[in-house]
Amino acid sequence: MDDDFFILGIESSCDDTSVAITNKNHVLSNIISSQLVHNQYGGVVPEIASREHMKNIVPVLKNALEVSKIDLNEIDLIAYTNGPGLSGSLIVGSSFAKSLAQTLSIPMTDVDHMKAHIHSIFLKNERNRYPKFPFLSLTVSGGHTQLVVVNDFNDFKKIGNTLDDAAGEAFDKTSKFLGLGYPGGPIIDNLSKKGNPIFEFSKPKIKDYDFSFSGLKTSIIYSIKKELKENSKFIGDNINDLCSSIQHSIVEILVEKTIKCAIDLDIKQICIVGGVSANSHLREKLKSECLINKFDLFYPKINYCTDNAAMIAVSGYFNHLNKKFSDLDKVIDSRLSF
Ligand code: KG4
Ligand code: ZN
Repeated sequence: MDDDFFILGIESSCDDTSVAITNKNHVLSNIISSQLVHNQYGGVVPEIASREHMKNIVPVLKNALEVSKIDLNEIDLIAYTNGPGLSGSLIVGSSFAKSLAQTLSIPMTDVDHMKAHIHSIFLKNERNRYPKFPFLSLTVSGGHTQLVVVNDFNDFKKIGNTLDDAAGEAFDKTSKFLGLGYPGGPIIDNLSKKGNPIFEFSKPKIKDYDFSFSGLKTSIIYSIKKELKENSKFIGDNINDLCSSIQHSIVEILVEKTIKCAIDLDIKQICIVGGVSANSHLREKLKSECLINKFDLFYPKINYCTDNAAMIAVSGYFNHLNKKFSDLDKVIDSRLSF
């Protein structure tokens, strides 16, 4: 078809090597190789991460091409993550992308990882349901916690940020303390389903739309250490309730700020993106708050929440168009196969 536009996306900002092929916003393949080697260290080791990317990038590309049934010669654009991320990891993806674009004599575009998380909301979904501008994005990942007003495909205004740890980091660090492994978010999410939020931790009081999770993490660790003095088996005896309580505290902070921000700015469309947006309690809690406030809520499919190259490809597509769209409907009719 004449209006096909095939994009090869490459993501290598942290510990996931991912290559995707999309036709505009329609995902044809999205292969992710997660580096399990970091689990034993309780966090990502940068030097190991870049070596793993070097090992994985070619097989992941081959797999992505096979699944999409697209030939390298059919690719119209290469999009790669430029940052933020670990420099050694970013270099592997960007050098690979540049060599590929040079060899194929096709254009390439660099992509901002955080914008790409927001653009993941425009990846084609079954219900053809996408937010309209302006909308508010709660971008929650392992390294960032941001509230962003999105006025257009390439018009973002960051209005809130974390002052210290990110929400994902709070999950990961408390998980490590509990001896549960890395990444902590999905593990805590799972165990929480069997527990109740019976423990209370002191929450930070931060002005406006900024966040802070370092104090919460300290409060969690301090109160558990206190209990351990009385009962050395405290963690094992209460693991599900502890996970549920930790998750509850983190989610409460995120939801409270997001809803307040949307009310203050009179924005009625909210999206949550990034690894932590996969959290089941965050989705449930925001859903019910949005229902009460008559807001529309949007989130990506689970495999587009955590790092993936499909979001890099679609973000590269918006870069490439580099047009200012004021109305999503126009885009639906014309450029994208929404
Ligand atoms: O977006 P992402 O894959 O990488 C970064 O850009 O940082 O996010 C990774 C983060 C990790 O901190 C991980 O623990 C968290 O997302 N995460 C979750 C869940 N799945 C992943 N946090 C809470 N609940 C989940 N289900
Ligand atoms: Zn990410």
